[in-house]
Amino acid sequence: MVANKSRTELKKAISNMSKEIRGKACEPGALIPILQMTQEKLGYIPKDAIEMISRETKIPESEIFGVITFYKQFRMKPLGKFLVRLCDGTACHVNNAKMLIDVIKEELKLENDDTSSDGLFTLTPVACLGCCSLAPVIMVNDETYGRLSPQKLRKIIKEYRAKEQTGQERSN
Ligand code: FES
Repeated sequence: MVANKSRTELKKAISNMSKEIRGKACEPGALIPILQMTQEKLGYIPKDAIEMISRETKIPESEIFGVITFYKQFRMKPLGKFLVRLCDGTACHVNNAKMLIDVIKEELKLENDDTSSDGLFTLTPVACLGCCSLAPVIMVNDETYGRLSPQKLRKIIKEYRAKEQTGQERSN
C-alpha cells in the first residue's frame, strides 16, 4: 500500500511524474495507463495530478475526470491508513458477510463514503480473499482475520484504533 504523502511530497511527486508523462502523452490510448501509473505512485489521483495530466496530454480535465469516475479502479481520495478488505465471495456471503458490512459501516460511521472521517480506515468489499475455509473473512492491510462474528469484528477495529492512538501518544 502506498503511504499517504504530505502536500509538499505530493507536489514533488506530481512534478516528477509530469516528465514521465510528457513522453507518453501522444500515444493513442495513453490516458488509462497514465492514470494507473499515477494511482500506483500516489495511491489515488488528486486534483493537482489531473491538472498536470491535462497540461501534458492536452486532454481536457473534464474528460479525464469522466474516465476516472467511470472506472471503479480509480479513486480521487487517499486511502485510509488501514485498508479493510471485506470478503463478500460465495463462502463468506453465505456466512453473513452482508451483516459484517453493516457492522463495519456502523463502527466506522461510513455513510456515503468508503473512508472514515479520521482517515484511518478505508472499506472495500472484495470477491474472494482465497481463504474460504475461514469464512467470513476480512483483511486489514496484510493481516487476515477469519471466522468473524460482529463482536469479533468490532473488537478488531477497536484494537487498530487503540494501537494508532498509543502510537500517536508515543510520538508526541
Ligand atoms: S469467499 Fe471469502 S475468502 Fe473466499
